[in-house]
Amino acid sequence: MYQAQEKRYDNMQYNRVGTSGLKLSAISLGFWHNFGDVDKMTTQKEVVFTAFDHGITHFDLANNYGPPAGSAETNFGRILKDDLHHYRDEIIVSSKAGYYMWPGPYGEWGSKKSIVASCNQSLKRLGLDYVDIFYHHRPDSNTPLEETAQALDLLVRQGKALYVGVSNYSPEQTAAISKLFKALHTPFIIHQPPYNMFNRRVEEGLTDVLAAEGLGAIVFSPLAQGLLTNRYLNGIPADSRAHRADSPFLSEERVAATLSKVRQLNEVAENRGQTLAEMALAWNLRLPEIASVLIGASRVSQLLDNLKALDNLDFTPKELVRIDEILK
Ligand SMILES: NC(=O)c1ccc[n+]([C@@H]2O[C@H](COP(=O)([O-])OP(=O)(O)OC[C@H]3O[C@@H](n4cnc5c(N)ncnc54)[C@H](OP(=O)(O)O)[C@@H]3O)[C@@H](O)[C@H]2O)c1
Repeated sequence: MYQAQEKRYDNMQYNRVGTSGLKLSAISLGFWHNFGDVDKMTTQKEVVFTAFDHGITHFDLANNYGPPAGSAETNFGRILKDDLHHYRDEIIVSSKAGYYMWPGPYGEWGSKKSIVASCNQSLKRLGLDYVDIFYHHRPDSNTPLEETAQALDLLVRQGKALYVGVSNYSPEQTAAISKLFKALHTPFIIHQPPYNMFNRRVEEGLTDVLAAEGLGAIVFSPLAQGLLTNRYLNGIPADSRAHRADSPFLSEERVAATLSKVRQLNEVAENRGQTLAEMALAWNLRLPEIASVLIGASRVSQLLDNLKALDNLDFTPKELVRIDEILK
């Protein structure tokens, strides 16, 4: 029977999400990859327990995570039931609806029908009465924003979600739905955008909207799916995401195209006494709107490396300029 480390809260930083009362661990663990039925349950458990033992309180899921879709929620549900149920009140679980999940007109996007049905399915797979945060996973230009907002608001009123969020929304869409949520008094507190050294779109207006609306961000793929680590410095390992056939969003061509910048960034990290992964996470956390970086990890050693990012979060102006130069 798993027993969590007593000192698990000693070295983690907890950041408030916008102006809400909720704090998230500065590093959160995502279940997009590495937690499907195709992945070993023993490794899944090791990663989850190591995360929790080091103060990571937030685990991020979605209806479609796997493969197969849904299996990450089922697997995490099993871990929760077998090993973590005593700790439920120390854990923030999130899920999402919006991407394709089941056939027909209700299995994706942002209608009330789709969002409510998907949340019910997620709760069943997770074995939970409620999730702490429920997200609309991507904007849907064919559904009135009012309807999507009402669907998320309903989930809160039904007690199925404590807080709601949006993901992949533009600054304009975020400002518009925030206004609707304010009118409904919905606890809309968080945005989940992509952000890393190779994708800085968040800086082009979104952080301004978040600050103005009192919202916080949790940023996904902070390591650019592994590019911003030492994973590909000496070639493409057979078990890496860039090589695996079930992860079409990171190609071997992309690895080759970024390698020269990655090598230069790695030098900056070495001069700071950090690994590139540690520096990339610390760099993300420099923005005040970002409450948490949402990492993936295929093994415990990666997680332990990433946790060390918190040992040095400060950058000199010179280091920041050098990083900007490399990224140009
Ligand atoms: N809202 C959305 O639309 C959306 C989209 C994408 C992701 N997300 C969320 O964000 C989470 C994280 O996304 P992500 O997995 O792309 O994040 P990431 O942290 O950028 O990439 C994780 C991958 O990088 C490699 N890695 C991690 N730490 C490493 C280290 N210290 N050294 C060497 N390699 C390391 C591993 O690759 P290998 O597998 O090759 O070992 C790992 O699977 C997801 O699980 C999900 O919860 C949300």
